[in-house]
Order: sequence, then C-alpha cells, then structure tokens
Amino acid sequence: MHVLILGGDGFCGWPTALHLSDRGHEVTVVDNLSRRAIDLELEVESLTPIRPIGERLRVWQQVSGREIGFVRLDLAAEPERLTALLPALRPDAIVHFAEQRAAPYSMRSTTSKRYTIDNNVRATHNLLSALVQSGTDAALVHLGTMGVYGYGWSGSAPIPEGYLTVKVPTPDGDVEREILHPASPGSVYHLTKTLDQLMFAFYAANDRVRITDLHQGIVWGTQTPQTARDERLVNRFDYDGDYGTVLNRFLMQAAIGHPLTVHGSGGQTRAFIHVRDMVRCIEIALENPPAAGDRPKVFNQVTESHRVRDLAKLVGSLTGAPVAHLPNPRQEADENELNVRNDQFLALGLEPTTLNEGLLEECREIAGRYRHRVDPTKIIARSVWRAGMETAEDLLTELPERAPSSAGPASERR
Ligand SMILES: NC(=O)c1ccc[n+]([C@@H]2O[C@H](COP(=O)([O-])OP(=O)(O)OC[C@H]3O[C@@H](n4cnc5c(N)ncnc54)[C@H](O)[C@@H]3O)[C@@H](O)[C@H]2O)c1
Repeated sequence: MHVLILGGDGFCGWPTALHLSDRGHEVTVVDNLSRRAIDLELEVESLTPIRPIGERLRVWQQVSGREIGFVRLDLAAEPERLTALLPALRPDAIVHFAEQRAAPYSMRSTTSKRYTIDNNVRATHNLLSALVQSGTDAALVHLGTMGVYGYGWSGSAPIPEGYLTVKVPTPDGDVEREILHPASPGSVYHLTKTLDQLMFAFYAANDRVRITDLHQGIVWGTQTPQTARDERLVNRFDYDGDYGTVLNRFLMQAAIGHPLTVHGSGGQTRAFIHVRDMVRCIEIALENPPAAGDRPKVFNQVTESHRVRDLAKLVGSLTGAPVAHLPNPRQEADENELNVRNDQFLALGLEPTTLNEGLLEECREIAGRYRHRVDPTKIIARSVWRAGMETAEDLLTELPERAPSSAGPASERR
C-alpha cells in the first residue's frame, strides 16, 4: 500500500516511515520541518545527532534499496497544496503525526499556546477537509494521546478504549448509551487532541471518512531495527525541559551524573510504550481500518503504566544516580491511578517490550554513547502552567552537585 507519513521527520514518524518501507510499502513523508525549527528556537538539539532529511532518505535508499518520497508542506498553512497533493499521490492510507506535541512547550507563553492551537487544529481540519474535497478514500490513522482522558479522572476504574458506556435516566427507566469518553485536557497541547477527537467524530459520521485514533502513552526508547542500520538514520532523542519525556530525561540525567529530577512527589502515574512497539501498533492499525460509515476506531496505544517516582527509583538502581524532587510545573493531583485497557492491540498480536528488557540497552547505547552532546543548562523544565507558580529553577541551586567532567567540554557538544 502507498502510505503518507505526515510528520515523518519526527521522533515517531521517522521510525514508522522506515518500518513501513522495510515491510515493502510505498512511503511518502510529508513534513514542514517545524520541529527542527523549534530546536533552533529553544537552542537545543536532539541528544542523538540527527541528519538533514535529504541525507536520511539517501542513506535509507543505500542501505535498503528502497526509496521514500518527501514533500515539504505545512498542513496548517497550505490547505490548497494539501488538497492537490492527495489525488496526485493517491495514498491508500495516511498516518497523521504532524502536530506540535510537547505539553510544556504548549504552556510556555501566550505565543506558544496560540501556535499549538493554530498548528494542530488547523492541520487536522485541513487534512479532513482535503480528504473530502479531493474524494480521496484513504484510511486515516491519527496519533492522539492518553492525556485526552485526563490523569486521575477515573480513579482505579480501567480507562476504556475511547468510548464509555453510560446509563441515561429517562421516565421509562435507564437507557444505556456509548459516548465518546469525556475529555479532560491538562494542557493546551492536550486540548488540541480533544478537539481532534470531535473533528474525527464529525467527519466519520458526515463524510464516512475511515479514521483510527490512537491514544498513545509516552513513547520511550530511541532505535528500531531500521534506524539502527546506519548511524546516519538514528532517531531523535529529546532530553530538554520542554520536549524531553520523563524516562528519556532520567536516562540522560543518569548518564551525565545529574540527579534524576522528579516533579512533585512523583506519585503521578503515566502510561508508556516502547518505540519498537509503537511502529508495530501503527502497522496493526493500518491493517485493521474501520469501514466507511463506522465511528472512529480508538485504540489505547500503551503497554505499561508506572508512577514517576518508581521509574526514578528503577533508573537510580541501575545507574546509581540520586533523585531530586522539584516543584511540579503542572496543575494536577500529586498522586493518581492510571489503569488502562489495551486489549485490542494485544488481541491483534502486539508483543510488548517491557521496561525491564529495554532500559539497560537504552542507558548504554544512547544516553551513555551520546552524553558528550548534552547541554546541562537545558535539562530543567522552565514552562509553568500558571503565572506565579514556583519553577524548578528556583530550587536549582539546592540540587546535589553534578559530576562536572561527565558532560564533556562544551566544544564537544555540537
Ligand atoms: N512522543 C511521544 O511520546 C508521544 C506520545 C503520545 C502522542 N504522541 C503524538 O505523536 C505525534 C508525533 O509525535 P513526535 O514525538 O514524533 O513529535 P515530533 O515533534 O518529533 O514530530 C512531529 C513532526 O510533525 C511535523 N509537523 C508539525 N506540524 C506540522 C505541520 N503543520 N505541517 C507539517 N508537518 C508538521 C514536525 O516538523 C515533526 O517532524 C504527535 O501528534 C504527538 O502528539 C507522541
């Protein structure tokens, strides 16, 4: 099948493009390279040295003999080009990763809030309207987030896959209904994903667009068998305060002798999935699209849940790194449960990579190998959810001293 990977230069999109190409699918990456521009804005780079997109694609062709197409296009700002592109490329399926994906970045300033809404909401709506206007019957797979359910909304009750069965009281007794699970966004970024869900419900019902929405947990790990085939294909690894997700941050902190920074009590529970399982889930979703006229199919794309302080303890026990508690910049309960159903992917053949299996490899092969590229000034989260909240920076001076030589001299970092 011909698959368009929107956002195919990013952390999830790049390994997905290579995985599907390796499986024999025709693949075209569409990306506006905005994530690389945000690196410049934040003055930080991926811990792993990622190559320009043209070089990545040339190297993939050399090592695999397979060609991946590339179109530089902004989904949010170029709806007409997008509408013309679809009938020109005639994709069988589209995977939509092309959104601003960091909650802390979305809360950084009024400008970044506006950018996240403008970019994500317009990108998704432009895509849906382009599919309809161009008469393109491609199955759409979108990357959503576990965060649409909110953290702590359901206590210990398992979070269902997208839809909730409710009883509606009527004069004739209770009537059972299945409704879209109530949205409870915890940041402007999560807000855009809940708006995406409503757009999907509308376009599936009104225009019979075939849509799968993957409510994904935090992706950890860096390499897939394809990205590991040549160093120039390496996937990105974000470790900075805005884009670095919690587990990657801990691994990199441990590698340079920096304390593992836990926000608040660390009692927040989060759901995780390894990058190798993520690409496999996308393939499974592409193989099992809904029928035209069906409501959007929702999968919870997660394999395990952990409390943040337990993760810190685990990484600390593997590496000897100490743990430091900093103020939590987010507005959320200190402790929460997260019990998630993921029966559909398991039933369709997913065999999860567990934290216990992959963590040591990640410590050695990525965080250890590239630690000389770390800029330690970028590690601490500086975005706060409301003006006036205490920032982690306020406590920075209280952190135990980090090993000064382990990050290497500044000249080696870039
Ligand atoms: N990384 C995770 O842990 C995680 C977890 C849950 C959900 N997700 C979702 O998966 C998707 C991909 O995440 P990621 O970690 O790969 O993010 P990323 O920022 O690394 O990749 C996103 C890609 O989309 C591109 N892009 C953004 N806006 C665009 C636009 N308007 N037009 C064209 N291209 C555009 C960027 O340049 C980038 O290459 C996101 O939608 C994110 O919300 C990611």
